[in-house]
Amino acid sequence: MTDISGSSGPGPNQDSRDRLVERLEKACGAGELRSPIVPERLGRGHWWSDRKLGEWPAALTGGVLEPKEGYRFRPENVAMVALLQGLEADTVVDLGCGSGSLLLIAAVVLTPRRLVGVDIQAESIERLKRTVAAHQLEHVDLLVGDLRRPEIQAEIALLVGGGAELVLMNPPYFPVGWGRTSRHEAVRLSTHGEQGDVRDFLGAAKRLVSKGGQIWAVYDAWRLAELLVAAGEVGLAVQRLFWIPDQRPGKGDRPYRFWAVLGRRGEAESGAFIERL
Ligand SMILES: C[S@@+](CC[C@H](N)C(=O)[O-])C[C@H]1O[C@@H](n2cnc3c(N)ncnc32)[C@H](O)[C@@H]1O
Repeated sequence: MTDISGSSGPGPNQDSRDRLVERLEKACGAGELRSPIVPERLGRGHWWSDRKLGEWPAALTGGVLEPKEGYRFRPENVAMVALLQGLEADTVVDLGCGSGSLLLIAAVVLTPRRLVGVDIQAESIERLKRTVAAHQLEHVDLLVGDLRRPEIQAEIALLVGGGAELVLMNPPYFPVGWGRTSRHEAVRLSTHGEQGDVRDFLGAAKRLVSKGGQIWAVYDAWRLAELLVAAGEVGLAVQRLFWIPDQRPGKGDRPYRFWAVLGRRGEAESGAFIERL
């Protein structure tokens, strides 16, 4: 784990923060940028400061490498920093890890013994390898592969040594062909379920999660019903829901995204506890 995880503020750690940023900038290729993970990405960051959760983990401000053009992580991802507080997980899997913002947040907040990320896009995994190296994260395995395939699931299970205590996901929200689709395949694979939808992601998660483990999924609020039906179909139960209001001007503070915490049906208390973030 990098020496600056969990540290923050001015003082002796400033140097290590500067070195992290330097390493990331050096690893940043043409057509890429460094996306800091900071609370202000979501609203003005009040959801973090209101909770008095202390200093923001400094390593996250270093952020991740992302394409200048293409899919970049969305504001709702940063909310996971608050939600994960107090949770313990030694083994974590990020399904469809993309540029790795969820993986990095889990690495910094939970410091797991083993972390595995998988994505169908080789380019994303290659980029994330550079991000992980710049953060000097150990115990991270990154795989290119289709999470629907049993052999990929078996490889992930082998790497985490059985089941994962925490499985993270941000599956594509939209059905194939919905709305104005990007002409870039890399974007469509992130936004539309061309190679896997929420049911596929939850099905893989169910096979990968340990007994008593949790699955955390971020999803579009208007499509909550799709996630609930898919969860039921694959044998998962929703334990908790956190909703994130729409903070765009004129949108009236309506639910925009949510984080769902799921477990295997019958293993954990269900009965969805719904909270506003
Ligand atoms: C909405 S993006 C999320 C990316 C990243 N986790 C984030 O939160 O910014 C969905 C990701 O799932 C990946 N994906 C889609 N279908 C997949 C599949 N069958 N196997 C593995 N990854 C897949 C996409 O390539 C994309 O990176």
